[in-house]
Amino acid sequence: MFEKDLLAGKVILVTGGGTGLGRVMALRFAELGARVAVLGRRPEPLTEVVQAIEAKGGEAMAASADVRDAARVDAAVEDVVTRFGGIQVLVNNAAGNFLALTETLSPNAFNAVVGIVLNGTFHCTAAVGKRLIAQGTGGCILNIVATYAWTGAAYVVPSVCAKAGVLAMTRALAVEWGRYRIRLNAIAPGPFPTEGAWSRLMLPGMEEEGKRRNPTGRFGDPPELANLAAYLASDAASYINGECVTMDGGEWLMGQSFNALTQLPPEQFQALAEALRPRKSGP
Ligand code: HXC
Repeated sequence: MFEKDLLAGKVILVTGGGTGLGRVMALRFAELGARVAVLGRRPEPLTEVVQAIEAKGGEAMAASADVRDAARVDAAVEDVVTRFGGIQVLVNNAAGNFLALTETLSPNAFNAVVGIVLNGTFHCTAAVGKRLIAQGTGGCILNIVATYAWTGAAYVVPSVCAKAGVLAMTRALAVEWGRYRIRLNAIAPGPFPTEGAWSRLMLPGMEEEGKRRNPTGRFGDPPELANLAAYLASDAASYINGECVTMDGGEWLMGQSFNALTQLPPEQFQALAEALRPRKSGP
């Protein structure tokens, strides 16, 4: 659905770009003409993504940093600007998460997730944002959140708190940096099977239940998310600012009172609804 060079002329930095959804987005951005930098803690996955992009004739580089380390992030962003001569788009995708009873969490466990998701997003946003302001070119920052940023969710409280903070940051900076033509938007993906998320969050037996609970009856396919990210990062979305686009097949809406009834076959639902219907008394 996209023109081949939709993202030509853009330098895009993807945090957590060596694996999972970050990797899929990085490859898609390169396919659409962007020069891509992938940032992460481990060099091996980053190198693999860079090689995959280069093998298809694209341009890419690895930027090594833990997003929790503001100084390393700043140096990595400087490397990107030096190599590519500027930067136009940042995708804050790096995340950390695990399932735990909240009462068992140590302060360090809480900080580990919040440090990556909230502080890490701030470090990258500040490092890229100040350069975008100095360049005067405008730009785009895209934050990957989750629908539980506004619903909350049990057993992932550090991530819930951090994603809610990232969503608030998105909206605050959409206003504050609008004057610099820097757009900030978010995507709230539902369940997209990736090794990182699945190994930490998918309990045995949950997979079928997860699909059953989704109005579409399936999980997301990572390229679907990459296409949305490409659109939001492109100039085609130049008037979208401060928005959060949910891409979850409608999953989060299933929490509403009557939605569980969709698990019934239509005939059974109809019979139950008829039974509740008041009978007209005689004339
Ligand atoms: C309880 C845990 C724990 C667990 C770690 N900790 N794992 N506590 N249950 N499963 C505690 C440790 O005991 C320690 O506290 C503290 O957290 C830090 O642990 P480290 O292992 O030293 O941290 P670190 O190596 O920095 O690893 C960070 C991490 C890890 C977040 C814990 O999981 C990670 O690196 N994840 C990155 C990738 C990832 O999580 N991807 C999934 C994102 S999925 P103490 O007190 O013992 O020192 C996602 C999608 C959600 O976000 C949306 C779904 C719809």
